[in-house]
Amino acid sequence: MSLLTLVSLLLFSSSATVLASPCVAFDINWNLLALGLDGKDYNAGTQDTWTGSGNATDITTSGRPPFDGSNTTCYLSQYTNAIYVMGADSQEPSSVYIYDATAKSWSTQSVTAGSFNPSSFDAILDHDTNVFYALSQENLFSLDMGLLKAANSTPLAWVNAEQAPYPANYQPVMALAQNHIHFLDVPGVAAGSADIFVIHYSYFQPEAQSFPLPNGSAIPATYGQATSFFQESGVQQEFAFIPEDSSAVYVINVESNTTQVLAGPATKDPKATYFAGITSLIQLDSTGGVSFLPYQEGNVSINSAASWSTVNILASVAPPSSSTGGSNSSGSSSGNSTGSGPSGKTGDAPASSTVHWALLGALGVAMIAGLL
Ligand SMILES: *[C@@H]1O[C@H](CO)[C@@H](O)[C@H](O)[C@H]1NC(C)=O
Ligand SMILES: *[C@@H]1O[C@H](CO)[C@@H](O)[C@H](O)[C@H]1NC(C)=O
Ligand SMILES: *[C@@H]1O[C@H](CO)[C@@H](O)[C@H](O)[C@H]1NC(C)=O
Ligand SMILES: *[C@@H]1O[C@H](CO)[C@@H](O)[C@H](O)[C@H]1NC(C)=O
Ligand SMILES: *[C@@H]1O[C@H](CO)[C@@H](O)[C@H](O)[C@H]1NC(C)=O
Ligand SMILES: *[C@@H]1O[C@H](CO)[C@@H](O)[C@H](O)[C@H]1NC(C)=O
Ligand SMILES: *[C@@H]1O[C@H](CO)[C@@H](O)[C@H](O)[C@H]1NC(C)=O
Repeated sequence: MSLLTLVSLLLFSSSATVLASPCVAFDINWNLLALGLDGKDYNAGTQDTWTGSGNATDITTSGRPPFDGSNTTCYLSQYTNAIYVMGADSQEPSSVYIYDATAKSWSTQSVTAGSFNPSSFDAILDHDTNVFYALSQENLFSLDMGLLKAANSTPLAWVNAEQAPYPANYQPVMALAQNHIHFLDVPGVAAGSADIFVIHYSYFQPEAQSFPLPNGSAIPATYGQATSFFQESGVQQEFAFIPEDSSAVYVINVESNTTQVLAGPATKDPKATYFAGITSLIQLDSTGGVSFLPYQEGNVSINSAASWSTVNILASVAPPSSSTGGSNSSGSSSGNSTGSGPSGKTGDAPASSTVHWALLGALGVAMIAGLL
């Protein structure tokens, strides 16, 4: 066996076990897509499918990203039925991979980063304009996706819109609703209030807006994750905020400026990421476990009684890995373990670095074998 063959075999077998950083998203028909989960892409179907007896469909196809980044994020472009994927290719950190959910095909949009830092940002995709807004390096950037559902051969560019009025130590938490970007956990802003950027006027509203809890107290001022609930059509009006300790889910309505307090995720994982559809909030934990909280817009009593469950049809095709070491989460719907480890915008994948070390070791052995 030649060294090259041996190396190829090692690369092949190792890449199959790499736990990359996946992401979850919905398409416009509210099919739940898990992309880069155990090396494949799956369509879990609509909520009746994943809560019923259906199966997840393997939709893995060519042109997809390697999902070898540590902070992959996915966004639904509702006008185009495309999923935009960032940070899924460590070799091309600023590229945006586009999954056309209608054609079921992938393409890679090349993007010029400029002073935008693709390894440190938070972003929202504006519903009405299909423009990304991101906070990176204390500046607000925009990236106009046009109506792309397949990549254009001309590179797009992040545009530095303006300096944000936030201190350098602000780790951004951004949520979109009613064409406004809500900045949560801004230093110096009272707990329970958000700073607002009005997209259509490109305007940082000077006053913070408060979103009190039903009993008059406030959402804790802490880092966490945010994701907007979609409407069948039209702009989002509500978003969920999940503090890093997973102690609760806060759903903020920006019409009434009120907040619902819902059950915190069963899997307590500071590295989990979230994606809301219309009738559920999805959690993807750092072991690859996918769970959901059912949701009904406008029905506070049903929402406050709702609880988290595992999306079993994804767990059966792509079992969560307990050996990844990223957190001490159980990944089960009854789990109550406490996640630990450094805070991160999205899930890191310590397993992949473990595998890389193992791979390097194996290559070393192969090279010595080759030399002998
Ligand atoms: C799902 O897969 C299982 C096992 O392969 C099979 O028994 C079952 O019939 C499938 N269900 C549907 C709805 O296709
Ligand atoms: C991933 O996110 C963490 C936390 O924000 C950050 O420290 C790290 O640099 C990011 N890594 C990459 C490759 O973007
Ligand atoms: C108000 O409600 C929140 C969320 O349910 C709870 O954590 C908090 O203790 C309550 N505060 C008071 C003063 O009752
Ligand atoms: C909710 O907050 C927005 C933004 O600050 C404000 O324009 C609106 O008047 C508020 N709505 C209510 C019902 O207070
Ligand atoms: C909430 O949902 C329950 C159960 O479906 C229903 O009986 C109730 O009328 C709904 N309430 C509202 C305000 O929609
Ligand atoms: C998980 O828990 C064990 C035992 O409490 C601890 O030794 C280990 O460091 C934890 N791992 C992580 C990644 O937090
Ligand atoms: C986890 O749940 C078990 C069983 O419900 C309970 O006995 C245990 O105290 C819980 N642990 C924590 C840390 O909440």
